[in-house]
Amino acid sequence: MQQIKTITESVEEIQKGIFTLKVLAPSIAADARPGQFCNIKVNEDNFPLLRRPFSISEVDGDHISFMFNLVGLGTEILSRKKKGDVIDIIGPLGNGFNFVGDYKNALIIAGGIGSAPFPYLIREIENDKNVACFVGGRSKADIILSGMKNTFVSTDDGSEGFHGNVVQLLNSKIDSFDKDETKIFACGPTPMLRAVSEFSISRGINCEISTESVMACGFGICQGCVIESTKTDGFVLVCKDGPMFNAEDVRI
Ligand SMILES: Cc1cc2nc3c(=O)[nH]c(=O)nc-3n(C[C@H](O)[C@H](O)[C@H](O)COP(=O)(O)OP(=O)(O)OC[C@H]3O[C@@H](n4cnc5c(N)ncnc54)[C@H](O)[C@@H]3O)c2cc1C
Ligand code: FES
Repeated sequence: MQQIKTITESVEEIQKGIFTLKVLAPSIAADARPGQFCNIKVNEDNFPLLRRPFSISEVDGDHISFMFNLVGLGTEILSRKKKGDVIDIIGPLGNGFNFVGDYKNALIIAGGIGSAPFPYLIREIENDKNVACFVGGRSKADIILSGMKNTFVSTDDGSEGFHGNVVQLLNSKIDSFDKDETKIFACGPTPMLRAVSEFSISRGINCEISTESVMACGFGICQGCVIESTKTDGFVLVCKDGPMFNAEDVRI
C-alpha cells in the first residue's frame, strides 16, 4: 500500500453518467490484483475531507483505471478532472478476488456500476477459465458492458435482454454449468449481493461477493467499515479483511 500523487491521463464519459478515470501510477499498477481498490482524495484542498474508495477497473502498463458513476460531490469532482491534473491516491487496498483454483467456469455477476472491477479480473482469467458474464440493471441505460465477455443481460423493466433481475437470469442458465466446476464472482448493490449469496449457498456453488461500506481510512485504522461475520462472533472490516468475502462468511 502506498500514498502517491498520480497524474491524470484521461477522464471519459463512456456512457451517460458513467466515467472512466485513467491515471499514471506505476507503483500501484505493479502491486495491484483484480478486486483491489484505491482510496482517492478527490480535491487538492481538504473538502470533501474523506477519501472515496474505487475498485481498480483495469491495469494497463504503468496506468490504472477506475470506472464510476455520478453519485455526489466526490464523483462529480472526479468527473471534471483534466489530463495532467494531480490526484492523491492510496492503494492498492483490500484483499482482491481469490480467483486462482481448479474450477473451470467463472461466472461474473454485475449489477449497475458493479461492473467496475471485472474488466481487470476477466483479462487475468480468460485464458484459463470459461468466463460468462451476467449483467443486470434497472433498465437499458444502467447496463455497463465495458470489458465484459460472453454476456447475458437482464433489465428489471425488460428494456434490454432478459426481463427480470440478474439472479433470475442466472437461475435460468445455471444448469448449463457443472456446479462443482464453477465459481461465482459478484459485485453490485447489496440487495443483489444478498440474492446472489442465497442462490449460490442453496445450490452449493462457490461464490465470492464484493462488499461495500462507507469508508474513512481504507486500511484498517478507523474501524468504520465493519460488517457482520458468520464465522467469528464479531465483525470484519470491509477495507482490510475484504472487500471480497465468501458468500457464506458474512451477513450483509
Ligand atoms: C471497496 C469499494 C469499492 C468501490 N468501488 C466503486 C467503483 O469502482 N465505482 C463506483 O462508482 N463506486 C464505487 N464504490 C462506491 C463509491 O465509493 C461511492 O459511490 C463514492 O464514495 C460516492 O462518493 P460521492 O462523494 O460522489 O458521494 P457522497 O456525496 O459521498 O454520497 C452520495 C450518496 O452516496 C452514498 N454513498 C457514499 N459512499 C458510498 C459507498 N461506499 N457505497 C454506497 N453508497 C455510498 C451516500 O450514502 C450518499 O447517499 C466503491 C465503494 C467501496 C467501499
Ligand atoms: S475504512 Fe477505516 S477501518 Fe475500514
